[in-house]
Amino acid sequence: MKDSNSIKIFSPATVANVACGFDILGFALDNPGDEIQVSIKDSPGISVLNQTKDTVFPADVNKNTAVVSLQAYLSHLGSDQGFEITFTKKIKPGSGIGSSSASAAASVFAANELLGNPISKENLVQFAMQGEKAACGVAHADNVAPALLGGFVLVRSYDPLDIISIPYPEELYCTIIHPQIEVKTEDARKILRQGISLKDAVKQWGNVGGLIAGLMKGDYALIGRSLEDAIIEPIRSILIPGYDAVKEAALEAGALGCCISGSGPSMFALSRSAEEANQIAAAMKKAFTHYEIDNIDYVSKVNNQGPKVI
Ligand code: HSE
Repeated sequence: MKDSNSIKIFSPATVANVACGFDILGFALDNPGDEIQVSIKDSPGISVLNQTKDTVFPADVNKNTAVVSLQAYLSHLGSDQGFEITFTKKIKPGSGIGSSSASAAASVFAANELLGNPISKENLVQFAMQGEKAACGVAHADNVAPALLGGFVLVRSYDPLDIISIPYPEELYCTIIHPQIEVKTEDARKILRQGISLKDAVKQWGNVGGLIAGLMKGDYALIGRSLEDAIIEPIRSILIPGYDAVKEAALEAGALGCCISGSGPSMFALSRSAEEANQIAAAMKKAFTHYEIDNIDYVSKVNNQGPKVI
């Protein structure tokens, strides 16, 4: 729904890191996603309305990722245009599937549409990254870039920002299991080691290259072999009760690979069809029952568009 003063959009959840690509790889999902309405105001300033049940927003509006991103965008344009943002969030904060980035991507995308698209979608990424910085202390782009562009995205470089869309097989499906515990990205980053061994770096480089090649060639076996993380998974998986058993269940049910989605606690698994993805979801849920943790699952194709007007 769009008129000259208001726009309602769907903004997709995203899977960052994709096992081997910490802070440099991500992809977008068709399901779940947030609904966000952005309207032009007569007076300057950004106001926020929350229509989400059970989700409390930061009292300080300057900690809201959508507001911070929109402020960065407007200041780049030298504009004092006021906006009102109304959220109906379906992606839970602290879930590991890009809740803060869906909000950040949505606000800049919507405002840009309302102002006649003065900036390309690719160039909106830098503003949405400022929202991530407000949320977790680091302006990482591996959620906001796929949230804005859709598909698989590689952040080849942060300085200067160089974002590459990677072709991928049409049939690729993703299963997400979200155990109902909250992991803050900021906390999940604090526990990481600052140094890595050359041996682990060599493994990781091989897998990043393998994953990109596998996606581009539609080589599922290569995609599967490359969905390995020698560096982050061994540390962060400790935060997810039952992680090893749930991952094993996904692989036994036919997943190409399975790992932590973003900073967790959600886990993702890739597969070749909706049927396989549903079987994998059932197997992962069954494995979680031994750990008595409530969980929600999503089965989705890779989203190829980013935000869309609804
Ligand atoms: N690359 C980020 C991290 C993604 O792993 O901390 C957070 O969703």
